[in-house]
Amino acid sequence: MCWTLGGYSTIWMARAIPDHGRIVTLEAEPRHAEMARTNLTRAGLMHKVDLRVGPALTTLPDVQEEYREPFDFIFIDADKPSNPDYLRWALRLARPGSLIIGDNIVRDGEVINADSTDNRVQGVQSFLKLIADNPRLEATALQTVGTKGYDGFVIARVLESPTAK
Ligand SMILES: C[S@@+](CC[C@H](N)C(=O)[O-])C[C@H]1O[C@@H](n2cnc3c(N)ncnc32)[C@H](O)[C@@H]1O
Repeated sequence: MCWTLGGYSTIWMARAIPDHGRIVTLEAEPRHAEMARTNLTRAGLMHKVDLRVGPALTTLPDVQEEYREPFDFIFIDADKPSNPDYLRWALRLARPGSLIIGDNIVRDGEVINADSTDNRVQGVQSFLKLIADNPRLEATALQTVGTKGYDGFVIARVLESPTAK
């Protein structure tokens, strides 16, 4: 599962899975969804993709209802204030061994500013705290440096059995 925009991450993930695999990709903006549909069709991958248009917190309950099998890989990369809710959804949809990735968790170092009033930073701070405190998860963060500055992503793995934290 991932969030869509133009379908870039969805395309990489769809290329990596076998033909019977499925990727659910979530997008609130219809024009992004249309662009992604065009790109995925051109890439010959649309048959592996379930593109859900609408705010994720309203489409995720349907996804849970319709997909009985757990998700192996969940890439959270959308509206950062919703990250804590997306993590809760990811945990509902995952199984032991599933990976949950969260993007943009360094934000040029702003994420360690405890006084930040930016709701995107606050969303990421709460998200990371929920991961750190959750005995079902073990996680690490990696920093990235690029033309847009420095940032990073967190990789969390759902454990077989909860650990004491
Ligand atoms: C950073 S982009 C995702 C990029 C994608 N990971 C990639 O690399 O191709 C985030 C996308 O999430 C969408 N988005 C923002 N808020 C959303 C919401 N509440 N529900 C669903 N999608 C949302 C935005 O419209 C945008 O297209």
